Amino acid sequence: MTTTALIVAAGKGERAGGGVPKQYRLLGGKPVLRWAVEALIGHPAVQSARVVIGKGYEELAFTALAGLNVGDLIEGGADRADSVRSGLREIGGDAVLVHDAARPFCPAGVVDRLLATLEFYEGAAPVLPVGDTLACIGDTIGEPVDRSGLARVQTPQAFRVDALKAAYERWSGLPPTDETTVVRAAGMKVAAVEGDPALEKLTLAADFDRAEQWLAGRLVPRTGFGFDVHAFSGEGPLMLGGVEVPHSRGLAGHSDADVVLHAITDALLGAAGLGDIGEHFPPSDQRWEGAASSLFLAHAVVLLRSRGAIVDHVDCTVIAEAPKVAPCREAMRARIAEIAGLSIDQVSIKATTTEGLGFTGRREGIAAQAVASIRMGLSSEG
Ligand code: CTP
Ligand code: MG
Repeated sequence: MTTTALIVAAGKGERAGGGVPKQYRLLGGKPVLRWAVEALIGHPAVQSARVVIGKGYEELAFTALAGLNVGDLIEGGADRADSVRSGLREIGGDAVLVHDAARPFCPAGVVDRLLATLEFYEGAAPVLPVGDTLACIGDTIGEPVDRSGLARVQTPQAFRVDALKAAYERWSGLPPTDETTVVRAAGMKVAAVEGDPALEKLTLAADFDRAEQWLAGRLVPRTGFGFDVHAFSGEGPLMLGGVEVPHSRGLAGHSDADVVLHAITDALLGAAGLGDIGEHFPPSDQRWEGAASSLFLAHAVVLLRSRGAIVDHVDCTVIAEAPKVAPCREAMRARIAEIAGLSIDQVSIKATTTEGLGFTGRREGIAAQAVASIRMGLSSEG
């Protein structure tokens, strides 16, 4: 069975407010839309994904989806059902998972249940029981509504592609808010599978706070270590921690040879399991000749944040007989904080000599060691 994920992201997110449509806002440093798409693309039973976006939002969508294999973006319509129709015109295959971009977290188990059930029904949707008392409402609370046998219906919803297309062709009512409504109206059966609280839709502004908290609770602390050495060569000044430090000798290196920034960059990459600085900025690449190492650090931070990581702290020890680090320590902390988008109290700089021993003791070069503490989830399912 070939399965396509169709993610509808053409809404304006008016109820959520916040400047841009909610699907482009960041959650844990990553656009909501990207979370939603990655969760489905990452499922082994999903072969392809397509995304429906609103006219004029191409740029935001490109940025949010950079590097993901979603084919050409599809232009949506005035209401959700129009957007789904636009998407359906572009897809084939056996099965489709229609999903709201506004539901960033989709556990793989939900997709497993949907696709297993689709063997026996034209469609399947995740549902959750209603926990609250239900009542008709006017100025005051009116008649209670019996909630037994009622459920809240979520997305993604799975359908056989032909069945969903045929059902939409026959639909003549007001715009439906999901596909189960349309498929049922066409006389076909839609199975209910167990939904998941993680699939809750972002609808109101307060939902973002809730989602951030939920996400933060799923991040695990991780640590990375970095080490770098550069030899003295030529005249100073030398760059340490992004600051020009007055000294009679400078350091040799392909870039500006800032051992402190290199060690911190490596520590951050290490914490996120993203390789090392040489992999991202190979010395063989002309582009980095004489480059300011602030570029490397800033890039590492962007990479981490794009993976939803939060940087908590970086700590670096400079190992050198000279120059003295103390007079520049605060300037270095401030500059590193600025480059990495941290506050100064999240950056620590220390220094030591090696009591005249070894290459640092012989004043042949400077070494730096750094530790980075971050929090990161492994995927949308943590
Ligand atoms: N959607 C869509 N095309 C539309 C309207 C909605 O693709 N014309 C998508 C939204 O982007 C969202 C999903 O349908 O992923 C669920 O809709 P909803 O939560 O109502 O989102 P919005 O319509 O964007 O929000 P609002 O109704 O508050 O404006
Ligand atoms: Mg809407």
